[in-house]
Amino acid sequence: MALHEPRFLGNEKRYLADCIDTGWVSYAGAYVERFEQALAGACDVDHAIAVTSGTVALQVALNGAGIAPGDEVLVPALTFVASANAIVHAGGIPHFVDAEEATLGVDPIALTTHLEQIGEQRDGLIHNRLTGRRIAALLPVHVFGHPADMDALNAVAQRFGLQVIEDATEALGSRYKGRSCGSLAPLSTLSFNGNKIVTTGGGGAVLTDDEKLAAHLRHITTTAKMPHPWAFVHDEVAWNYRLPNINAALGLAQIERLNEMVAAKRRLWQRYAESFAGLAGARLFSETSLTQSNHWLISLILDRGREHLLEPVLRATNDLGLMTRPAWRPMHLLPMYANHPRAALPTTESLARRIVNLPSSPFLAPA
Ligand SMILES: Cc1ncc(COP(=O)(O)O)c(C=O)c1O
Repeated sequence: MALHEPRFLGNEKRYLADCIDTGWVSYAGAYVERFEQALAGACDVDHAIAVTSGTVALQVALNGAGIAPGDEVLVPALTFVASANAIVHAGGIPHFVDAEEATLGVDPIALTTHLEQIGEQRDGLIHNRLTGRRIAALLPVHVFGHPADMDALNAVAQRFGLQVIEDATEALGSRYKGRSCGSLAPLSTLSFNGNKIVTTGGGGAVLTDDEKLAAHLRHITTTAKMPHPWAFVHDEVAWNYRLPNINAALGLAQIERLNEMVAAKRRLWQRYAESFAGLAGARLFSETSLTQSNHWLISLILDRGREHLLEPVLRATNDLGLMTRPAWRPMHLLPMYANHPRAALPTTESLARRIVNLPSSPFLAPA
């Protein structure tokens, strides 16, 4: 039983056949626009720009936020490596901060303490006293689809003059205080790789309410080609990151069933909760009173003091054919990020030794 598998139960074949029959399989075609509109609607934002992966969506969003070479970007150490990689691809330097037990996202209180300790204002901008570099942005992540405490994090960002880029790659369909993940910062990102709640095969999107910025990001993700009936004129160095029509066709069929998927995943969480009721030594991670999670990955969290059970639980379940997985190895423990700036990371290190992600495919909990 896989950790998270897609199912194609809607219009997927019909839309894909339409792309093939009409020849519209590449960077132009109606499905990209339709998919973008569906995404914007699902996330309550004005604009969605579909691109080829969640990683490049983050890179484009960081570029849109004006990250300059050498700027530090605050990012949780408890995340998938792509969050940190995208910062590097955008010319920035990941600066790792701690998670909180309640949301698994960035801890706003620990972040504030850290910035008070290492930050200094220069020309109205916050700099890292230890490295001398500007700290330009905060990139919070909704870990396993569970919303981070965005109001608190946006308030910290405002106090210290940081841009916020929301890594909502895992959180399509999740809500924070009733608002959609993907709409909780001026720039947000999604991923549609094969293990996500909606897949395009591979793909991602940048979301924003800012019309001018959206137009610019669309331009630089499509080689900055100036509109003209036949001439090839490009006005800046740009990328070819646009999501192909054939991927968007798959995504459109998938997103048409988003509500069903989220309902199924929430049902699955309920069934796990019933099965694990009374379990000693671990808890099923549950949403807070502020959040409604899409439960992209459903996590069992061992109690502190039970870290020694992580490997045996992973081994026993995998031996049974149940694909369980630990959390990612925290970023500061990966060789390429070992010497990057960071806060104290006690909760991240503890959580990474206690998380077991359970099979979470929506079809495991039919209505
Ligand atoms: C937190 C996080 N950020 C970024 C990404 C990157 O997305 P992609 O795999 O589409 O490049 C992913 C997904 O894989 C992710 O889980």
